Amino acid sequence: MNVVVFISGTGSNLAAIIKKQHQFGYKVCLVVSNNKKAKGLEFARNNNIPVFTFDWDKNDKHLTIVQDQINKHNCHLIVLAGFMKILPAEFVQSYKHNIINIHPSLLPKYPGLHTHQRVIDNKDKQHGATVHYVNDKLDAGTIISQVVIKVEKSADAKSLSKQLLFSEHSLLPFTMGLIVENRVEWHGDLLCFDQKTLTNPIIINE
Ligand code: GRF
Repeated sequence: MNVVVFISGTGSNLAAIIKKQHQFGYKVCLVVSNNKKAKGLEFARNNNIPVFTFDWDKNDKHLTIVQDQINKHNCHLIVLAGFMKILPAEFVQSYKHNIINIHPSLLPKYPGLHTHQRVIDNKDKQHGATVHYVNDKLDAGTIISQVVIKVEKSADAKSLSKQLLFSEHSLLPFTMGLIVENRVEWHGDLLCFDQKTLTNPIIINE
């Protein structure tokens, strides 16, 4: 399965995706970024993966060019891995059921930003990350999988973010593998896992 990964910054999830592509049977054919200086673009270039950068533009002009690139590289799955922009509804609709995102919280808890700080402020005992399909609402699409971590008493937002990122690097490639193998697939508008309707997130343990 050919995939395109969208990033905006560091790209540590991208690096994990690239590193594990043979293990999980997908191929990163293109990396897209709204930030020409995104550090993560180095991983793509070092692995000879084509990179496409564009200026974010509210009138969507550049997204048409992004779509041309996606078609040119024959990508079937769009993976948002630290992509910090909200894609317009028409774009999402045209790739319905084919865009996934990784979010650093146990959705539906804490959509949006500053998830680690919110976990600390609320004295949560658990934290985690979620991979979900993207719909036209922020961090609200159908959930596929989650990884859960324990919040240590000494943790702060920075240490928690570092701890969780490490687990994200397992969660995202593994979940992509489930999609490649059709173990996770849409039956109409129902998301199924091993042919049964997915009612709870698939929990990935380290
Ligand atoms: C990750 O925490 C991801 O869950 C969130 O943005 C961060 C991206 O990190 N959406 P990186 O750029 O992959 O290092």
